[in-house]
Amino acid sequence: MELVWNTSLQKCSKGSNPFHSSFQIDVIGKDILHAVSLLKKGELVAIPTKTVYGLAANVWNKKAVENIFTIKNRPHDNPLIVHVGSISQLLSLVTSFPPIAQRLAEKFWPGALTLILPSKKGISPLITAGQSTIAIRIPDHAMTMELLQKLSCPLAAPSANIFGNISPTTAFHVDAQLGERLPYILDGGACCLGLESTIVSCISGKPVLNRLGAITEEVLEKVVGKLSYVSSLKTAGKVGRHYSPRTVFLIKSMEEIRYIPNDKKVGLLVFSKPILPITSSRQRVLSLQGSLEEAGRKLFSAMHYLDQQNLDEIWTHFFPNKGLGNTINERLIRASQD
Ligand code: TXA
Ligand code: MG
Repeated sequence: MELVWNTSLQKCSKGSNPFHSSFQIDVIGKDILHAVSLLKKGELVAIPTKTVYGLAANVWNKKAVENIFTIKNRPHDNPLIVHVGSISQLLSLVTSFPPIAQRLAEKFWPGALTLILPSKKGISPLITAGQSTIAIRIPDHAMTMELLQKLSCPLAAPSANIFGNISPTTAFHVDAQLGERLPYILDGGACCLGLESTIVSCISGKPVLNRLGAITEEVLEKVVGKLSYVSSLKTAGKVGRHYSPRTVFLIKSMEEIRYIPNDKKVGLLVFSKPILPITSSRQRVLSLQGSLEEAGRKLFSAMHYLDQQNLDEIWTHFFPNKGLGNTINERLIRASQD
C-alpha cells in the first residue's frame, strides 16, 4: 500500500478507509477549496469553529448526514446543529425568526450561540431528530465562514468526536479520534473559546437556556432579561456520561486532592494552583492567573493530554460557581458520570 507523509503531524496515513473511496492525501490541512469539493461530493469534513471542531456534512445530502451518525457512533435521537453563513440561509430553514431570536442573533452572531427555532418541513429528520425545531448558528471562524460562503448549502455539524468522548479543540484531537474515518480535517488552529456554544430555545415567547456554553448566562441576560434553564436529557445532549476521557475521571474536594494515594498513578486537572508534589507531566493547571476564560479554553485540551498519560485516575475539583465556571462544572460532572 502506498503511504503518504502527513507533514502537519509528522506521521504516515494509509490510503484505505472504509468511509470514503478516494485515495487519501494529507488528512489535516488548510485547503478550503479541497474541503468545498469534498462536501459537495457528499463527503464529511471536520471544520474549525471558535468553540470546538465540528464534523460537517451538507444538510441536503441525506447519506452524508447519516454518515455523521455512523462515524461518531451517535444515537439518532440526538439532533444536530446546523451552521449557516447568513441570515438568508437561516430563513430557508425556519418557519419563523421571532424578534427575541433576532435580538440574540444581532448581538452574538457570528458567535458561540445556537438558537432553537421552528423548523421548516423538508429538513431531514436525522438533523432534527424528528422534532419540529432546528438548532442553528452562524459560527465565527474565518476559515469556516469562507467555506460556508463558497458552498451554497448549510452544514450540519456536531462536535467532531466519538459520541460521549472529549470534544476536540485542535485538528490533532480530531485526527486522534476520527482521522482514520475522515477524508479531511480543515485545520484552523486551536479553538479560542474551547467550550461548546450556548444553546437557547426561542420556540415559546420567552427564551429558554438549553445548554450552558461559551457565552455565559449573565452575558445573555443583559440582552434578553432573566432566562429559565431547562436542559432536557435528549435535546441538550444530556444523556449521561459525555465529554469523557477513557481514564477514570473523578471530582474530589480540595482536601482529598492534597492527599493523593501512593499506590495509584493519579493525574490532576486543577484551576489555578498547582498541587505539590505532583509532577507537571501529571498535572494540568488551567489558569495560573485564575481566569475562567483561559480555563475554559484549555479544559478539553488538558483532558485529552491527561487521558494519554496512562494514568489510573484523573482527579479534578469544582471550579468557582460563576460565569464560565458554571459551564466548566457542568462539563466536569458529565465527564465524571458512569
Ligand atoms: O459549539 C458547538 O455547539 C459545536 C460546534 C461544532 O458548533 N457543536 C456541538 O454539537 O456541540 P453537538 O452535536 O456536540 O451538540 C449539539 C447539541 C446536542 O446536545 C443536541 O441535543 C442539541 O444541540 N440540539 C440539536 N438540535 C436541537 C433541537 N432541535 N432542540 C434542542 N436541542 C438540540
Ligand atoms: Mg458534542
